[in-house]
Amino acid sequence: MDINREKELRRFDDTKAGVKGLVDAGVVKIPKIFIRPSHELAEELNDCQINIEVPVIDLAGIQYEDRRKEIVREICAASETWGFFQVVNHGIPLTVLDDAINGIRMFHEQDPESKKEFYTRDLTKKVRYSSNFDLYLSGTANWRDTLTISFMARGQLKPEELPAVCRDTTLRYIKHVREFGDTLFKLLSEALGLKPDHLHHLECAQACVFSNHYYPACPEPELTLGTSSHFDPVFLTALLQDQLGGLQVAHNNQWVNVRPIKGGLVINIGELLQILSNGKFRSVNHRVAANRVGPRISIACFFEGSHRIPEKVYGPIEELLSKENPPRYKEFQVSEFARNFYRKGLGEKSDIEVLKIQATK
Ligand code: OGA
Ligand code: NI
Repeated sequence: MDINREKELRRFDDTKAGVKGLVDAGVVKIPKIFIRPSHELAEELNDCQINIEVPVIDLAGIQYEDRRKEIVREICAASETWGFFQVVNHGIPLTVLDDAINGIRMFHEQDPESKKEFYTRDLTKKVRYSSNFDLYLSGTANWRDTLTISFMARGQLKPEELPAVCRDTTLRYIKHVREFGDTLFKLLSEALGLKPDHLHHLECAQACVFSNHYYPACPEPELTLGTSSHFDPVFLTALLQDQLGGLQVAHNNQWVNVRPIKGGLVINIGELLQILSNGKFRSVNHRVAANRVGPRISIACFFEGSHRIPEKVYGPIEELLSKENPPRYKEFQVSEFARNFYRKGLGEKSDIEVLKIQATK
């Protein structure tokens, strides 16, 4: 790496104040470490498509057999074509969602000294605040700070380990979204033509990681990104976003805005579920644009699967395989997959390419 860039990164990292710290200091030009290379800016896909949108699925009436079947069909179609959908009427109270967003805002906006004690790049820590987990790996830094909270099956997180400003609101939201995750995995199992408990038995939702993002207002949004293009290296993601917008999904070679819906949640298929479904469900590239207006806050809940020991081996679900549908991916372990992700950071390329089995015909 260019020695000056390395120095600049270290200087930024050492402030432990994140991108928010730069904005508070009044920068009007973004530092070089955030500027995307000119060839990347030139190759930008066309303007965002405005006349199509990610499917919105209304879960009202899910307790009725006929409506449930319809919902399962909608989820199946969205997971096959978009890899993304939004849900409304999911049962999590609006106040729980709003309070969670506000709590995260308060965490990032509290006095910098209190925030600093959580600043770390040590991945073994269950609560960590930093800017750009892949700061030293990526070519361009993103205009974003994050508070990450890990819930593994073993080594339970104690409530007092969470920052006091967002402790109660975060715990309440986590409880609701994990329960909702169980519902989602049931619906997805059914969408694959399996018994409702199939994905649950595979422990897909056992470990969760929460990325609580803060995207400060950016003085030169056209030169950088809030989050660069990537695939989620997990089974499933449930994302709560505020009303500002900025999340974009790649669809038919164009970026499509994910319109914020009050009370809605954005759901996307992760790379690991693409493998389990043997490619029926798609994990799709997405990113977050930087914005002159801010801050934008989002809370991503990543369902990571099982980290228990002895480790579980995952692969395409056997019940889905046949002579006509042979396995398209090799088996893997979650920890090995996660390690690989953290070694390289966010990237355009899917991490499951290496697990692909080449057709022999
Ligand atoms: C992510 C992600 C989108 C957002 O954290 O993986 O895609 O809107 N976040 O913050
Ligand atoms: Ni993502």
